[in-house]
Amino acid sequence: MLKLEPIKIGKIELLPLFEGGKGIAVSNGVTAGAWSACGGVGTFSGASADYYDEDGNLVRYHYSGKTRRERHAQLIEQSIKGALAQARIAKSIAKNVWVNMNVLWEMGGCQIILEKTLERAKGMINGVTCGAGMPYNLASICAKFDVFYFPIVSSMRAFNVLWQRAYKNYSQWLGAVVYEDPWIAGGHNGLSSEEDPKIRQDPYHRLVKLRKCMNSLGLSSVPIVIAGGVWCLNEWKNYLDNPEIGPVAFQFGTRPLLTKESPISDEWKKRLVELKEGDVLLNQFSPTGFYSSGVYNNFLRKLDNRSKRQIAYKDVSESGFESIIHFGPRNRELFVSKEDELKAQAWIADGYDQIIKTPDGTIVFETKDEAAIIHQDQVNCMGCLSSCRFSNWSQEAESNGSIPDPRSFCIQKTLQDIAHAGSIDDNLMFAGANVFRFGQDPFYANGFIPTVQELVDRIKQGD
Ligand SMILES: Cc1cc2nc3c(=O)[nH]c(=O)nc-3n(C[C@H](O)[C@H](O)[C@H](O)COP(=O)(O)O)c2cc1C
Ligand code: SF4
Repeated sequence: MLKLEPIKIGKIELLPLFEGGKGIAVSNGVTAGAWSACGGVGTFSGASADYYDEDGNLVRYHYSGKTRRERHAQLIEQSIKGALAQARIAKSIAKNVWVNMNVLWEMGGCQIILEKTLERAKGMINGVTCGAGMPYNLASICAKFDVFYFPIVSSMRAFNVLWQRAYKNYSQWLGAVVYEDPWIAGGHNGLSSEEDPKIRQDPYHRLVKLRKCMNSLGLSSVPIVIAGGVWCLNEWKNYLDNPEIGPVAFQFGTRPLLTKESPISDEWKKRLVELKEGDVLLNQFSPTGFYSSGVYNNFLRKLDNRSKRQIAYKDVSESGFESIIHFGPRNRELFVSKEDELKAQAWIADGYDQIIKTPDGTIVFETKDEAAIIHQDQVNCMGCLSSCRFSNWSQEAESNGSIPDPRSFCIQKTLQDIAHAGSIDDNLMFAGANVFRFGQDPFYANGFIPTVQELVDRIKQGD
């Protein structure tokens, strides 16, 4: 058994093990309640969370609004219901325990969903973990409701900016700082333009930097929660009881996907143990504009191939762009290089005869069926993000001023589908780079699926 020092948040001592929040509806009230009941921090996702009718039946999100703005309002209304429902479930499983809610700062209506949920869920939510963006107002919102905040950052620099600009005025409500490894964690990743996605930096040095910065700000007693690539704690002994790291906890995102309580489909659970090293792709297809890590299945392969069927074009002929391609119903002329014209002809001959412009001065080639799906998904947009490169939706101004980007996809549609027993091949399956370890870890031999309690016990042993 490892010696795990409890962490202190406010006056409460907790097991230093966090369940990573997973949207949509992948970490929920049931998983969070079960995790919290073990003494750690369970986290339900507040991103388009499931809600139920009076008889307890799941209500799928539905939209009658004619405009994106109207549907966005309906999404917010349903998301608040969902977050409240999951908070209630978590607290009904585990009374007097610590429960966190997770939101993505760049999700549509994030601040209002958070405020309304915290207002109505008094006493049910103890903390909020929040990443995917720079959540400056997270601290003030949480402080208003006496709730602790847990920013998710991927570098010391990001935390320092958040602190200087916003958090220093709310220091007593800072629960912990979650450091998420931007190269290997599941879900969205916080890689900055200064970091090479192909060269992973040693987390130890990045964590020491973060701790030094936190100490200099008077935050030496605030824990750091290490997320991304954490499987067994025996591999992280060097981070325990180490003054360079300070008080520390660990967050597990991928590993809790495979528990009895986990709501994902049996098919998805089965796939997890079949995955091999290298099956996860760190990619840039997300409509948020962030990097993200997911299984390289049909869904990602399709996007990858679409991006490969891409060439640069000009509206008027210029040197190097002298060959003509006909575009759209009016057969407008676009100019491409001679070399690219040959590629285009081959794609068209293969059935990829629909040409779609991207915001980067390029065109991609798709089949009629796929082009129709892209178009329909853009038409159906309900503004689930603050700004979306796929549909060009912007919460502030309806449109972000750019043309919709066909190289991306509707994340709301696909995550709703996979979370509710949809295809695991044709939907986005977020996973950390370590997911292949399910297939190698003897704990999961012979199809064994642990309960959350069994998983937490195993982690506590160091395995
Ligand atoms: C399926 C899946 C969905 C996720 N969704 C979210 C999310 O909605 N919000 C979030 O902050 N992190 C999300 N994450 C990240 C986890 O909370 C966690 O920080 C990360 O998975 C840790 O790295 P690991 O995958 O190596 O365990 C997700 C991860 C996975 C695997
Ligand atoms: S198109 Fe973009 S903003 Fe609209 S629902 Fe889909 S992912 Fe969300």
